[in-house]
Amino acid sequence: MTPTTTVYVIDADGRLGDALQCLLDNYDIEVRAFTDTALFLSSTTASHETSSCLLLVLNSDCERGLKFVEEITLSRPKLPTIVLCDSTDESLRKQYIRLGAIDIVSKSMVDAYIFTRLSATLPGAECLPGTPPSTMQLPDGTAVTFRMIRPEDARIEHDFVIALSDRSRYLRFFSGLRELPSYITRELVDPHFPISYALIATISTEEGERQIGVARYSPTETKRVAEFAVVVADEWQRHGIASQLLRYIVAAATIAGIDRLEGLILHENTPMLKLTDKLGFTISQDVELDGTIVKVIKNLR
Ligand SMILES: CC(C)(COP(=O)(O)OP(=O)(O)OC[C@H]1O[C@@H](n2cnc3c(N)ncnc32)[C@H](O)[C@@H]1OP(=O)(O)O)[C@@H](O)C(=O)NCCC(=O)NCCS
Repeated sequence: MTPTTTVYVIDADGRLGDALQCLLDNYDIEVRAFTDTALFLSSTTASHETSSCLLLVLNSDCERGLKFVEEITLSRPKLPTIVLCDSTDESLRKQYIRLGAIDIVSKSMVDAYIFTRLSATLPGAECLPGTPPSTMQLPDGTAVTFRMIRPEDARIEHDFVIALSDRSRYLRFFSGLRELPSYITRELVDPHFPISYALIATISTEEGERQIGVARYSPTETKRVAEFAVVVADEWQRHGIASQLLRYIVAAATIAGIDRLEGLILHENTPMLKLTDKLGFTISQDVELDGTIVKVIKNLR
């Protein structure tokens, strides 16, 4: 089958491009890796880029990529570009976004995530470098791991939803339900990339792994438009966990060839409106929703 989506990777050492190729082959997504921007620009044309994207990998100096992004967006204005580096500098992030990049996503977490997924897909794969898990350290020392949800997570997902405050559950599901019916939980823990995808944030406790956040995108009735949602356990909010989860969801949706992410948010949900504004979503003007709900959108291409 001809791949419908191409992920271009510019990566000086080629490691991530090789790994992505191995992973995305499973989903009929083509990966083309280049060692530098000049090579990428001279070897590709804009003609087949309708559902493609570019990952620009920067290993250390995150500012170095600014000039590359400028060059790329000038000659390929329609190609969504995601910068992979480890900067948490908000002003640098804004500069990239101003130049046309979708966002900066943590390079070491993406590396760790992909290599962990690959070792799960290919147990014993000797070619894979050893990488620590995709973990974010909170100021109190807690390690939060980000990983794809899987069917075996039905119990932790169920426990996570039950433990949410009534308010958080209402803001997420727009209803007063306390517990999700098991058939819905089964669906939520079994996304089908590239059509749908979900990531969870977990911590390790004496009782085992505990879910403290989840973000997902799911298909809508419109082709290449997906709906997203995110929720973080009440006691773990305001630590940047939803921001990380949503950045990965945006990156995964871009790689999956999705054109636009949309989310329905209750008008009273100021935290979520602020979060989506911060991540570059805008309020959609073109829909007539009842006045209690706001639709936010992010065009990915
Ligand atoms: C909205 C929600 C997902 C945010 O999760 P979080 O992990 O606390 O978010 P982050 O720590 O990444 O915050 C990112 C930004 O969001 C905004 N924000 C988050 N919580 C906020 C709050 N209580 N008040 C005001 N702004 C807030 C801020 O702009 C924040 O950036 P800052 O910390 O630099 O000011 C969380 O509050 C939640 O789960 N709410 C209930 C469920 C829900 O509303 N889901 C959305 C439906 S799709």
